[in-house]
Amino acid sequence: MKTRYALLLSLSLATAAHAADDVVELWTAKCKSCHGTDGRAQTPMGKKEAIVDMSQAAWQTAQSDADIRESIAEGSPRNKKMKAFKDKLTPEQLDSLVAYIRTLKKG
Ligand code: HEC
Repeated sequence: MKTRYALLLSLSLATAAHAADDVVELWTAKCKSCHGTDGRAQTPMGKKEAIVDMSQAAWQTAQSDADIRESIAEGSPRNKKMKAFKDKLTPEQLDSLVAYIRTLKKG
């Protein structure tokens, strides 16, 4: 019985680690070019478009998870460079990107 639990536990841990890798890959492939590795938007596009620094505590506090999810799903009504990703990403990918953006908050 014990070994069975241990096996289940290590399987679910492996899945969680895998999901974390996937979201980093997703961010790198689809978001990093404008928002930067760290979400601070210190990229040519970020500077040109004055994209917000997502690592700022004030931004993190002002945005609810639903706000962030909507920005990703629907794009920005203010700036066409931020496209709607709802047709390109699954609901699970949208959720994991929101969670990932939360990890970018500066300590
Ligand atoms: C081609 C450049 C570009 C790419 C690629 C891009 N974004 Fe954006 N993003 C922007 C711009 C420009 C804004 C600012 C929009 C505004 O000021 O309204 C923005 C805004 C946002 C916002 C809202 C910020 C706020 O304060 O309202 C979120 C959240 C966001 N992006 C997430 C993402 C995620 C996640 C991805 C990848 C799936 C992504 N973006 C890919 C350019 C981009």
